[in-house]
Amino acid sequence: MSGDAATARACANIALVKYWGKRDAARNLPAAGSLSLTLDALTTVTTVRFDPALPADRMRLGGEVAAPEVLARTRAFLDRVRALAGITTPASVESHNHFPTASGLASSASGFAALALAASRAAGLDLDDAALSRLAREGSGSAARSIHGGFVRMDAGVRDDGLDAYAHPVAAPALAARVRMIVAEVGGGAPKTHGSRDAMEHCARTSPLYDGWLAVVPRDLAAAEAAIAAGDLEALGELTEGSALAMHAAAIASRPTVLYWQPATLAALAQVRALRAAGRAAWATMDAGPHVKVLSDERDADAVARAMAGTEGVTAVTIARAGGPAELLPRTAP
Ligand code: PMV
Repeated sequence: MSGDAATARACANIALVKYWGKRDAARNLPAAGSLSLTLDALTTVTTVRFDPALPADRMRLGGEVAAPEVLARTRAFLDRVRALAGITTPASVESHNHFPTASGLASSASGFAALALAASRAAGLDLDDAALSRLAREGSGSAARSIHGGFVRMDAGVRDDGLDAYAHPVAAPALAARVRMIVAEVGGGAPKTHGSRDAMEHCARTSPLYDGWLAVVPRDLAAAEAAIAAGDLEALGELTEGSALAMHAAAIASRPTVLYWQPATLAALAQVRALRAAGRAAWATMDAGPHVKVLSDERDADAVARAMAGTEGVTAVTIARAGGPAELLPRTAP
């Protein structure tokens, strides 16, 4: 592939132990670690081409000219790549989210992971996984995890320069093969959600529960890694649901509140508890939106998906498996 253009694909990921809060906003360094599962069903494919003939950076997202705020965030990210590569060339970016529906499922993780890989390669850089993960993190904290497939641990690190704040794969091939994530989309009249970046900063500043939230993360991380090592999905599931509820409790207690849930979110949570009471593998997690994602396994995934689809207010359901790492794609015709 030539040095000036590259195409990369990355999968989204869902945190099992959540990232919520920064120790350094400028460098986008997390206040605590996190642990996620990369998902095969939600991907972003991005092509970056550095072209001296362009007057300025430009971007298309899903075939449309990107909104000004999306272009601004992408340009800031490209500036970091250009600084690393020692170039000043403008770039064109073409990005497509291959998500099951157009609903508000977060795409920043797959988006910045694909952009990090495509842009760095197009700029002539050949970054290792640690450097790629650090670069993706500068775009979005969760994107650092989408560089890897399967289970992934993000380290908060302690260094001011962030060199130790990047993600590592957590090898568990047998568990990764049987785990499933059922994504239940909650739609219908959703109020505009708070972007995670501003919301976590506001939560850290105003929530009386933020310190309690941060204190619980290291314990949950250690327990989740132990559960993965033991192939214990039930223990991992309980930690997953607990981490999401603790994160949302801290967010909800912010003043004014950061409340992502809708009535259908609570109905979906009740459905998950009912499934569990009926002996199904089902544990819920939620991010910066009203959707509910259910950790399950290959045996119960279909039954869980059917039950979620039948829950009032759930508008679409997708069964995802563990996805692979971010990767370069063969170059498409110009
Ligand atoms: O990557 P960001 O800045 O969009 O933050 C992600 C925050 C959560 O999705 C709520 C949690 C997580 O760990 O992914």
